[in-house]
Amino acid sequence: SGTPNGGLSPASFVVVANRLPVDRDIDEDGNSDWRTSPGGLVTALEPVLKSRAGAWVGWVGAPDEDLEPFTHDGMEIIPVPLSGVEVRDYYEGFSNGTLWPLYHDVVAHPEFHREWWDSYLKVNRRFADRAAEIADDGAVVWIQDYQLQLVPQMLRERRPDLKIGFFLHIPFPPTELFQQLPWRREILEGLLGADLVGFQINGGAQNFTRLVRQLAHYPTQRGSIELPDGRRVLARAYPISIQTQEFYDNARLPETAKRAEEIRHELGDPKYLFLGVDRLDYTKGIYQRLRAFGELISDGLLDAEDAVFVQVANPSRERVEEYKRLRDDIERLVGRLNGELGQLGRPPINYMHSFYPRDEMAALYRAADVMVVTPLRDGMNLVAKEYIACRQADDGALVLSEFAGAARELRQAYMINPYDINQMKERMLEAATDAPRNKARRMRILRRQVFEHDIDRWATNFLDDLGSCTRSR
Ligand code: G6P
Repeated sequence: SGTPNGGLSPASFVVVANRLPVDRDIDEDGNSDWRTSPGGLVTALEPVLKSRAGAWVGWVGAPDEDLEPFTHDGMEIIPVPLSGVEVRDYYEGFSNGTLWPLYHDVVAHPEFHREWWDSYLKVNRRFADRAAEIADDGAVVWIQDYQLQLVPQMLRERRPDLKIGFFLHIPFPPTELFQQLPWRREILEGLLGADLVGFQINGGAQNFTRLVRQLAHYPTQRGSIELPDGRRVLARAYPISIQTQEFYDNARLPETAKRAEEIRHELGDPKYLFLGVDRLDYTKGIYQRLRAFGELISDGLLDAEDAVFVQVANPSRERVEEYKRLRDDIERLVGRLNGELGQLGRPPINYMHSFYPRDEMAALYRAADVMVVTPLRDGMNLVAKEYIACRQADDGALVLSEFAGAARELRQAYMINPYDINQMKERMLEAATDAPRNKARRMRILRRQVFEHDIDRWATNFLDDLGSCTRSR
């Protein structure tokens, strides 16, 4: 329940992210109310925000809305408006048509448009202005992700008293790819406005420091960068995680167990239930994994009588051209495979293009024998961790792409190269049919890893390190 708040008090902790941590509910009478978003980042940062008089600067997710700041559940919410043109050029354009494919190994073709860049610049400035207004003297400001890479520098120019952290949730690309960007120097200097720049894996931090040497010629030592004015910037890896205990507890509920059984029954009580859960994105390797599964059936290695694939695809960025194309490709493939391999009432692939509530997801994770996570490139991939967290015993199996950040931690998964379809088929089959004691040995280690490294620990590690960065001026 949001209360309007004209007189804002300065915040000692500020999060800046493209999206706000609240979603709007509109009832039948057209009254709107706010609900805290269900995502892991929000859940992890909420307690920090509440205990430190925190504020969150972000976009409400719809064009042309100029909302007053308000308080929600102990957090100051500072909405940043975007016009329709800015949604097109800054969000769909530069963020998701240029940076997203460029940072994900150019698995789709990045487009470079000067109008998109201009809009990115303008919108980043607006976010920086809002943060500069709300931050108290010496406050800690934590900026999130690729949509806002210029904010650290813009904010530092206005407010040298602040401690500024930045975390990139997606991969930081090899320098050879980053160099394509006409605005590479600007992005680099933008990020160097932070005291601490966090990445998902060491490789990202290393790509970044190498780029700093090559492009800006600033001296670096391990993850420490020395700027011409004597200021130091740290670049380090902080692998993000999930609220492990909450996922486990939710999956443990008797009603979840019951629903998991129901799901298996509705699917015809298969011997092997394979599951994929992704935002419908071309980086996720959905096409490749469904092809592999289809071939396992057409080769006769799996029987359509006892193997089923459930693919949940959450709608995403639907106005971006590449995403439209991907959706068509996948839906055509699913139609073809079900048409060729299915029997009446028994399609081998159950494809859902929709969002599912948390409880239904917990039941699906519980029900699945094999979780199939095959991105061509992924910053981390939290779905892999969610599946593990939902296990109630050392059973089930995770097939995981070596190109997901999560592969660095989840080494006991059945690892695959998503470009190698034969290997993917072999590993999917192995994961399904492996001896229970082999699965148990792997899953025990995976579960320990995910329980010991949850998202609270991630946030604490980052914020502790940011806290110990020495103030520059
Ligand atoms: C990825 C990005 C996030 C983004 C999310 C959903 O996880 O790292 O920054 O919020 O995808 O994408 P969307 O464009 O809908 O915000």
